Amino acid sequence: MPTKTHRIILRPTGLELHAPSGVSLRDPLFEQGVEFPCGGQGRCRGCRVRVLEGTAGVNAAQEERLSVEELAAGWRLACQCVLEGDLVVELRQWDSAILADETPFAFEPRPGLGVAVDVGTTTIVAQLLDLQTGSVLAVRTALNSQARHGGDVMSRVEFALSTGGRHELQDLVRRQIGTLITQLVRAASASAEDIRDVVLVGNTVMHHLFCGISVEPLAHYPFAPSRYDLEILTAEQLDWELPGNTPVRFLPCLGGFVGSDILAGLLATRISESESLVALIDLGTNGEIVLGNRDRMLCASTAAGPAFEGARISMGMRAATGAISQVTAEGGRLRCHVLGNTEPRGICGSGLVDAAATGLDLGVIGPSGRLANGNTNWELCAGVTLTQKDIRELQLAKAAIAGGLRILRERWNGVDPTRIYLAGAFGNYVNRSSAQRIGLIGYPPDQVQPAGNTALLGAKLALFSLDREDGNYTSLRNRVEHISLSADAHFQDIFVEELTFGSGADFSCRASSQSV
Ligand code: FES
Repeated sequence: MPTKTHRIILRPTGLELHAPSGVSLRDPLFEQGVEFPCGGQGRCRGCRVRVLEGTAGVNAAQEERLSVEELAAGWRLACQCVLEGDLVVELRQWDSAILADETPFAFEPRPGLGVAVDVGTTTIVAQLLDLQTGSVLAVRTALNSQARHGGDVMSRVEFALSTGGRHELQDLVRRQIGTLITQLVRAASASAEDIRDVVLVGNTVMHHLFCGISVEPLAHYPFAPSRYDLEILTAEQLDWELPGNTPVRFLPCLGGFVGSDILAGLLATRISESESLVALIDLGTNGEIVLGNRDRMLCASTAAGPAFEGARISMGMRAATGAISQVTAEGGRLRCHVLGNTEPRGICGSGLVDAAATGLDLGVIGPSGRLANGNTNWELCAGVTLTQKDIRELQLAKAAIAGGLRILRERWNGVDPTRIYLAGAFGNYVNRSSAQRIGLIGYPPDQVQPAGNTALLGAKLALFSLDREDGNYTSLRNRVEHISLSADAHFQDIFVEELTFGSGADFSCRASSQSV
């Protein structure tokens, strides 16, 4: 008997999908870009949908993760639902703001075209460049198709270690990047024959999974990569629609969980040429920090957790329509800026940092992070509330970054950086005064500079230096010392100290609100 097909209508877009009976609701939704942060394990609540019409069953995982009220209101975990009939579901997690960096940069012209790819854990950004003019001909961004098997690198490593997992992750990302490149060529009405080089950058797990290298050593202490080096494959090996011998280079890693995205960040920010001490901080689930100058560079990675990306926050969401991205106080009253000029649905990382800073200013949150008067939550605006647990999550993320930077600074004999680059989308959105107020970045805003997608910019720069540069970046990598924070005897103590929001002594530095 043929399998019955059911219709799924997504609200608010009205998009209509069709999928066979018995499949996980995760599959058709994932195709539409919905993320499954814990890889569909039913652990994170990140895939909540609300069933408006039709029925979707409730299993034990949902009973554990959703309240009785939520279940009664139709909320379900999409990853735990099996399609058994037509559905109309409300989907709140949707489109995210992604940086497609077009920062100008210096280059030496080369004939032909090149492709630069930032292989992020969450997002892949690919650009097609004219190597003669340096201009970007086309840009494509997509959610990393591996995300169905986990939102963070450790979930991917876990899945890769399961039977057949590594090959599935490898196939997914290789196929997806091949498709993105085909789309770039079409979008620019270009010829694939003209593509001379493809350069990829990403964290160590993305590097290993794309290149077909075992991630087993990344699953346990000391988290040392299997291989650090530049990996060169050909388009033929990858079965991409490019001339077979087109080289595809994945730039080398710097150390355990400090990948070529940070190497590219060094190229983009030119820390290795700087006379003065400079820091580069990439604030993501895995925070990566470099502190150095032209003589010496130290790097570390720190498990910041996903709070800055809105995950593990009760009403957290990514920087998408409906997210509170900015919180200020005027005359003691809160003002929330909502992305997309719509009703607030949740709060993203920059809003969270702002909310904490504003809460400290208003005395709603104490320096220890405790909500005043024994409250367990704080309403920011109609329908959006911050809980005590949310603040604790932010404190953990903040302490990981601030503690990591402190350890590197100690190794530099307490010398302060003159400039701090914040990489990535969050770095662009976060209010730097608020970041200072909560002690996330303990430096005045005028010393802190959003640096955009430094990984992509570095990959682009690499496209122009392949002929003259040692492609393995040996001399640059030799000047970078990887510091293992978990092996540092002081890190735990410093981490605990950094959990507080400080004494509020830097209150006067807090500037008025900035637009997002
Ligand atoms: S609970 Fe469904 S993806 Fe985490």
